[in-house]
Amino acid sequence: MLRFIHLSDSHISTPDFANYGHRSAPNLEAVVSAINALPFEVDFVLHTGDVVQNGAPEEYALARALLAPLRFPIRYVNGNHDASDLLQRELAGVQTPSARYDYTFSAKGVQIAVFDSANRRDHTGNLTDSQLDALRRLCTPEGAPLILVLHHPPLPLDTPWIDQGWQVPDRPPFGTMLLENWRAFQAAIAPARRRLRGVFFGHIHHAHQAWRDGVLYCAAPSTFGQLASRPEQSAPQPTPEQPAAFYVVSVNEAQVTVRQVSLPRPTSQPI
Ligand SMILES: [Fe+2]
Repeated sequence: MLRFIHLSDSHISTPDFANYGHRSAPNLEAVVSAINALPFEVDFVLHTGDVVQNGAPEEYALARALLAPLRFPIRYVNGNHDASDLLQRELAGVQTPSARYDYTFSAKGVQIAVFDSANRRDHTGNLTDSQLDALRRLCTPEGAPLILVLHHPPLPLDTPWIDQGWQVPDRPPFGTMLLENWRAFQAAIAPARRRLRGVFFGHIHHAHQAWRDGVLYCAAPSTFGQLASRPEQSAPQPTPEQPAAFYVVSVNEAQVTVRQVSLPRPTSQPI
């Protein structure tokens, strides 16, 4: 049985950085305490990106300090708010960072492949042609059970602001939150359908699950703050009443189980 924690979008900045009453640093501290207090073991913690808010060195120093007490190893994914080289060097311990932080590892006989979809200055993301080639080489019909991980959603989620982007008066239009070449992603992974145990991502600040062509897609909630994700919703909207949360994911031969753990919202934080 493979078991891991999926958390995302911690947006660490200054110690008191806040949005709609959510403070990112105390929230992450509370999440780390909650994970350490779990009465069972997990194989690793998976952070699907936007570890920090502005990609600044001092933000990575604070994130490293907040995550250091974790009693499980942590794996990182580059998000659009991250600075890939700093994330690789300061958090992941990579001596020579690559332009796109792609890597694979195995746990309990399951292969986990991480793809870096975020190298832009805005919230959009894609995979390069060479990343798609690597994805095709990976996604053969035969092989170990496989989990794919990236920051951007690689399929539509029945929410217009996520799927198509949105408009704000007097500003250029905001593009889609989806992986821009998500159709190419879907085509690349299709041969591995029977091996795939799930595709895990973040970016949208909302717990979201979808099922497409026999594959589970799972977006972790944010440890910072959630955004409303409703059908026909045309622009992102904070949901201050929703607390920080993370997933516990269990994978065995027969099935994948995803549980959400939500923290109590601290009453001392004004909305
Ligand atoms: Fe993001």
